[in-house]
Amino acid sequence: MSKLFDFGLERLTGQPALSGVVKGVAAGGRGTFFLETFGCQMNDHDSEKVAGVLLSRGYVQVETPEAASLILYNTCSIREKAAQKVFSRLGEYREKQDEGKIIGVLGCVAQQEGEDIFARAPWVSLVCGSASYSKLPQMIAELEAGNHRVTGLDTDTDETFETEVTRRDNPWRAYLTIIEGCDKACSYCVVPYTRGPERSRASDSILREVGQLADLGYSEVQLLGQTVNSYADPTPRRMCFSELLLAVADVPGIRRVRFTTSHPSDFTPDIVEAIESQPKICDHVHLPAQSGSTKVLRAMQRTYSREEYLEKIVMIRNASRPIDITTDIIVGFPGEMESDFEQTLSLLDEVRYDSLFSFKYSPRPNTPSLVMPDAIPEEEKGRRLAVLQDKQREIQSRKHEALVGKTFEVLVNGKSRRENQWFGYSTSHRMLNFTSQAQELLGTYVQVRVTRAGPNNLMGEHNV
Ligand code: 5AD
Ligand code: SF4
Repeated sequence: MSKLFDFGLERLTGQPALSGVVKGVAAGGRGTFFLETFGCQMNDHDSEKVAGVLLSRGYVQVETPEAASLILYNTCSIREKAAQKVFSRLGEYREKQDEGKIIGVLGCVAQQEGEDIFARAPWVSLVCGSASYSKLPQMIAELEAGNHRVTGLDTDTDETFETEVTRRDNPWRAYLTIIEGCDKACSYCVVPYTRGPERSRASDSILREVGQLADLGYSEVQLLGQTVNSYADPTPRRMCFSELLLAVADVPGIRRVRFTTSHPSDFTPDIVEAIESQPKICDHVHLPAQSGSTKVLRAMQRTYSREEYLEKIVMIRNASRPIDITTDIIVGFPGEMESDFEQTLSLLDEVRYDSLFSFKYSPRPNTPSLVMPDAIPEEEKGRRLAVLQDKQREIQSRKHEALVGKTFEVLVNGKSRRENQWFGYSTSHRMLNFTSQAQELLGTYVQVRVTRAGPNNLMGEHNV
């Protein structure tokens, strides 16, 4: 996986994003919480909202499980590794319950495993699936009232998870979920099961929040959804996705609008036109192909062929300003022959992605592909993954070499430990490490000239 486009898909960083409570959980300022997140940006942002709910009830976030009375894990289950991780983590906190701590599991794993979590880890008190977050405040209230087995596992909710307070982790870029759940039915994917059906958030509520974010000093917003471009405004305004992009960009104070993840079937020309007409909409589209073989795409139920996917690529490449394209690829899907895999390799040659995230197919519970014949052995999946990544490295090396000497506007996100070293992101979401003599740059936009490039990194200088 490329670090260059670190947009957080499946990072599994285990970051202690947000944290809660003392004995029996406490309203009114007595509780402390620790919240650990594994997973994608949607998960990270759900955690920000969960933290907001707890903070507004008087809880204090702490850095370690030891310091917390409420320990929460928000976990992803898109691939098996992530799902296993939560159980090993829960094991570590077995004794904590004896100390009067309350332990909860949130997110996709909670949705998937449901009450089985109580059987496997009886020390857990709260299980709340990602489709039921709108019920979280009530669930917390039940815990506060002394209830020791609280669950939220409905998937038929038509509500989106909106909170009064969201505790955001990055002071410059704000994530904002505009659509929850997924109505596609990719045969390998747990999301429709764990996050429930698609629900779009009201455009006026989104725009109000973007306004508040701008007032708080955020200049970049990233609109999130599993299929963000399937957005359909439920209010009488009936904004489509491209109209929403333009309206968000118009909010005073907003300088950059990002969005992820787009589904190729819903990627329509008006989205490219919106990007062309509004420079604040970032020059980057993440468009997961998953495979370059139409046969495999059919088995995956991806709703497009290789040719239809490539038509979308041509449309994006023909835009009046360059737009970077990144993708997700799964190797070793059941029945993927060598010739199918070669078509995926040729897709890479044809599109020349700016970055890609690649995964070995992982059979997941409740998905149609679980029972498909012709499983690919793990070893062969590993070989294909390595071949794919080698090819991409080669493509990225070439592309990066061509960037040496070019200047990018970068939103400065961090400072490295080494003196005068900073890093930030271009509008196309390339991460640039650069040197600058400036004293303070965090959160500002600066011009950086690329001086050196490797397959996975770009180094530059701040032109003062
Ligand atoms: N196995 C492997 N990769 C998967 N993804 C989703 N489900 C699976 C699975 N069962 C990948 C897809 C998706 C990304 C977020 O995770 O490529 O786009
Ligand atoms: Fe999963 Fe497919 Fe929906 Fe993406 S579009 S979340 S891969 S079902």
